[in-house]
Amino acid sequence: MHRVALLAGDGVGPEVIVEARRAVDALDLALAWTELPWGSAYWHEHGRMMPEDALDIVHAHDAILMGAVGDPSVPDHVSLWGLILDLRQRLDLWANVRPARLLEGIPCPLAGRGPADVDMLFVRENTEGEYAGVGGRAHRTLPAEVAVEVSVFTRTGVERVVRHAFELAETRRGVLTSATKSNASRFGYVLWDEVAEEVAAEHPGVRYERVLVDALAARMVRDPGSLDVVVASNLFADILTDLAAAIQGGMGMAASANLAPGSGTPGLFEPVHGSAPDIAGQGVANPAGAVWSASLMLEHLGETEGARRLMSALQDVCREGPRTRDVGGSATTREVGDAIVARLA
Ligand code: NAD
Ligand code: IPM
Ligand code: MN
Repeated sequence: MHRVALLAGDGVGPEVIVEARRAVDALDLALAWTELPWGSAYWHEHGRMMPEDALDIVHAHDAILMGAVGDPSVPDHVSLWGLILDLRQRLDLWANVRPARLLEGIPCPLAGRGPADVDMLFVRENTEGEYAGVGGRAHRTLPAEVAVEVSVFTRTGVERVVRHAFELAETRRGVLTSATKSNASRFGYVLWDEVAEEVAAEHPGVRYERVLVDALAARMVRDPGSLDVVVASNLFADILTDLAAAIQGGMGMAASANLAPGSGTPGLFEPVHGSAPDIAGQGVANPAGAVWSASLMLEHLGETEGARRLMSALQDVCREGPRTRDVGGSATTREVGDAIVARLA
């Protein structure tokens, strides 16, 4: 029996997560859900985003399936550091794996590009770098007010995520692109480049290339087909994966897995998008990224056949419809969810 914690969260989170859950339930696996009511409403009631024993609760599960967090009524740095960023750090979920594949039937914003041109896999460092959470503010409100935000790169942290990316590249087309900005930032990204070079030497079967992240952003648009696995720091890969999501059809399409490879720690699976307050409550959010994330989760739980069936149902629905309006259709979230469930019945 797989024990899965369901953290629907805020905004469109609950709307897309319910469809992911229904799709998983349609597979009829031995899987039990625990609903965690954490998020912004919980904050208003309890003054915190999740309970003090949140880590123990999570550790009693095999995986977490999350929607999104963030509500206009709570400052973003409070809600995100109170939940997703805290979970990533404290569970040491150091690899955020984000497939960016254009599925058939989904319109691509790049002229003349189709599914054959867009199949990238981003591996995002997920616990340190620009998101280390180190810094402070002083002399508040005075003209001398200062804010310091420190990026922290450790050899261990860089090495493990780069090595994981190489291993993933070995299972794919054998190309690894590492993106930094070591021309301008002289310390952290230079360490990253050096470590990547060392790990590359251990993987002669993979073609390794080092690029500057600004040039990579342009290349993703000009020539996405030249990219296979991309590894980058926390902030860079955050930004690149929103760009990648757009290239794969929109924010609603993209999925992710927060993992601590090689450990028994439960993974956290979530669409790349946020709580989308601009469309929340309308029932029009695209559930594809959430359903895809659920498929990644099943894969990590060892339910290979269930993961494949779920992904295949999602691909069928993307190809044949119904689709939500962000990807050229006019269907509701529920109608797309129903179509996926019908494929699995
Ligand atoms: P967002 O991803 O929520 O929305 C950006 C754009 O994409 C919006 O136009 C939105 O309508 C659209 N979009 C997002 N998901 C969609 C879906 N499933 N279907 C169709 N369209 C979709 O990013 P934002 O507006 O920058 O952030 C909103 C809130 O979410 C903020 O509080 C932010 O901090 C938070 N956030 C949370 C997560 C997370 O929980 N993992 C991720 C990103 C942002
Ligand atoms: C993501 C999100 C988060 C991030 C936010 C909500 C803190 O944008 O998962 O991509 O930046 O990691
Ligand atoms: Mn992001």
